[in-house]
Amino acid sequence: MERFECGTRIVSGAGALASLGELGAGRALVVTDPFFRDNGVAEQVAKQTGAQCWELFSQVAPDPGLDLAAAGTARVRDFQPDLIVALGGGSAMDCAKAMKYFSGSGATFVAVPTTSGSGSEVTDFAILSHAGVKHPLVDRSLRPDVAILDSDLLGKLPRSLIADSGFDILAHALEAYAATGAGAITDALARDAFCAAYAKLPASFAGDTTVRQSVHLAATMAGMAFAQAGLGLCHALAHSLGGAFHVPHGRLNAILLPAVLDCNGSAVGHKYAELARAAGLGGSVDTIAIRNLKTALVRLRRTLEMPENLAQAGVDPGEVRQKREAVASAALADPCCATNPVKPTRQAVMDILDTVTGHG
Ligand SMILES: NC(=O)c1ccc[n+]([C@@H]2O[C@H](COP(=O)([O-])OP(=O)(O)OC[C@H]3O[C@@H](n4cnc5c(N)ncnc54)[C@H](O)[C@@H]3O)[C@@H](O)[C@H]2O)c1
Ligand SMILES: [Fe+2]
Repeated sequence: MERFECGTRIVSGAGALASLGELGAGRALVVTDPFFRDNGVAEQVAKQTGAQCWELFSQVAPDPGLDLAAAGTARVRDFQPDLIVALGGGSAMDCAKAMKYFSGSGATFVAVPTTSGSGSEVTDFAILSHAGVKHPLVDRSLRPDVAILDSDLLGKLPRSLIADSGFDILAHALEAYAATGAGAITDALARDAFCAAYAKLPASFAGDTTVRQSVHLAATMAGMAFAQAGLGLCHALAHSLGGAFHVPHGRLNAILLPAVLDCNGSAVGHKYAELARAAGLGGSVDTIAIRNLKTALVRLRRTLEMPENLAQAGVDPGEVRQKREAVASAALADPCCATNPVKPTRQAVMDILDTVTGHG
């Protein structure tokens, strides 16, 4: 039996932000980070809501913590918005979701992603950091009412952000495709998202802005897939390593994904092979298709000028060795582990950590 539910209205294309004016808001709160406050986009978005009264909450920092969410919650309680617009990447969207959740606000929630990666605009999750650990908050009420995918916001994406968030899409699609909750509908979304992101990321990274909307849509489709199917060990480890070492989330996925393919390959090799063939990576025999998929991911990582291990990402190998027990425990306790196609053993997690640590 497969159940599929989305419930978020998706408005997509150049100029889609204009649809904010259709929501009839009286009091709008725009939640964003300093980048969009300083470049004036947040104010422009607030004005597009048509609300008589609007405010900005623009303190969001990457990987938002509980303190920030608490400050934002107090702001929602004070201001009493009837519309909350989250403008930014996964961090701004997750912080805004937590603010709405903890304040008990009944405001309409609109997510406007400015990165193409997290998929938070269609998911029931918000990831909050606390004391060096990333905690996924999961609740149906966290799912945005509206997601606006406006290509006009993507023209000036920095290359490193295209690479990092791009590997988040690939990891979402690949993990959702192999997850225990996968079904025919999530498979279709994950497969299409993986193929589009894999094909278009090099051009986007090289500066071709015409492909960015399809990568943006791929991020949302991968989000719809993993919101229903679940994720896996790559994300469980990306969460625990991200909490401990503050490397961008998508960059951690890029480092981890090939090692996780090896770990899960014996159980879901046929699914990886299907995905490889769909992406044009050939291989009539599953083992060859899987090898091609892994090689393609490693090559793409190089094309996008990404690190191959934690040491290259600036994490001291000695520190990884020192924290590896705690990192492994946090990964094994992460909800993403529950939908990994095989139940990972502690030894398997340790082996992946050893593989990705690198040399100082
Ligand atoms: N809720 C979910 O379902 C979900 C899923 C995956 C990841 N996440 C979370 O999302 C976060 C990562 O999100 P992200 O990768 O979107 O990055 P991010 O939101 O952390 O943003 C990274 C940086 O990019 C800047 N930025 C954003 N858009 C920009 C643009 N258009 N131009 C220039 N700079 C821009 C931001 O100002 C910020 O400094 C992590 O905390 C991760 O845990 C959440
Ligand atoms: Fe992710």
